[in-house]
Amino acid sequence: MEKDQAWAREVLGKVREKMEWVSEKNKDKIPYTTDADGNYDDRSDMGREWNTDDGLNWWTNGFWGGILWMLYQDTEDGKYMQIARASGRKLEKCFERYYGLHHDVGFMFLPTAVADYRLTGNEDSRRAAMHAANLLAGRFNPAGRFLRAWNQVADSDTRGWAIVDSMLNISLLFWAAEESGDPRFRQIAVLHANTVMENFIRPDGSVCHIVEFDPESGERVRSYGGQGYGEGSSWTRGQGWAVYGFANSYAHTGKQEYLDAAKRVAHYCMANIREDGIVPVDFRQPPEPAWEDSCGACVIAGGLLEIAKHVPCLEKQLYRQAAVKLLRAIADTRADWTKNCDAIVQNCTGAYHSDAHHFTMVYADYYFIEALYKLTGTEMGIW
Ligand code: GLY
Repeated sequence: MEKDQAWAREVLGKVREKMEWVSEKNKDKIPYTTDADGNYDDRSDMGREWNTDDGLNWWTNGFWGGILWMLYQDTEDGKYMQIARASGRKLEKCFERYYGLHHDVGFMFLPTAVADYRLTGNEDSRRAAMHAANLLAGRFNPAGRFLRAWNQVADSDTRGWAIVDSMLNISLLFWAAEESGDPRFRQIAVLHANTVMENFIRPDGSVCHIVEFDPESGERVRSYGGQGYGEGSSWTRGQGWAVYGFANSYAHTGKQEYLDAAKRVAHYCMANIREDGIVPVDFRQPPEPAWEDSCGACVIAGGLLEIAKHVPCLEKQLYRQAAVKLLRAIADTRADWTKNCDAIVQNCTGAYHSDAHHFTMVYADYYFIEALYKLTGTEMGIW
């Protein structure tokens, strides 16, 4: 355990060194990915259309601020606070637009507004986070007891769609309940988590990405492969959202069934992680092409470390070791520590069937750095 902590501290030293110049270089941006020259893009404009989620409303736009808040907590360097807060203030402009915001307000406002409020007591950030929590709660479908995912997806009728990723977004509802004392937020989070537990987790511990319910009756209709290989497959990052989300739900509620659910999915993942610690986009994809998703590895690692906090000593090591295996594979073989690229984690993939594979994603860096802080016991704690 001490060896792993020493290793994580050493890697965090490299993270600090890299973020020192990356933060300065990109201080006016809210990045998602890097271009062919390794420069971060900028998602802080308002987007192409009035109702799209590809501009300022882009769902990953909270992770840049989240990385900087983690660095601020660690180093106490006010520069990180200033850049993080400025990106959070920009993000609040999304509320004026409203259209384009969806279930991912948790991913957007936990690492920015909630982090700012937790670390500095900033009341403006508390207001923004409560606003986001109310938007998320408003997506609850009482007939099916789920939070509706996304808005319109191409020509599909998505009114009855729920997705496993939302298990991280519900932390915003747990936060709002704890912060305001109003149990409605927690009740919705619990009802949604129960629905996901009952309808997404298969007997072998794998989870599907999307489940469709009838939006009127709440009856389960079918599942979809979503960002994974296909129906019945197991999208790696989705497995991570389940492991991490159920472990968090246990931390917020003390309900044993959530910890058991997190462990079931974790064991499915651990049984499928290769010896070299590199993970595919989908644990059930064909061997070729060998598309990888380093981001999925970082999310699973975060979930395993969260489980490790809540289990007895002997068991703890099982989950920590599996997480360290994933993180070492990233740090040793999939990380760019040079000035050639603004991002650290390489070889991420958004969706198995999309045209682009093996690029950088700001949330991979977020979950990689967060997992290192978890290993050293100094994480920010926002989920
Ligand atoms: N939440 C969407 C993704 O993980 O790509």
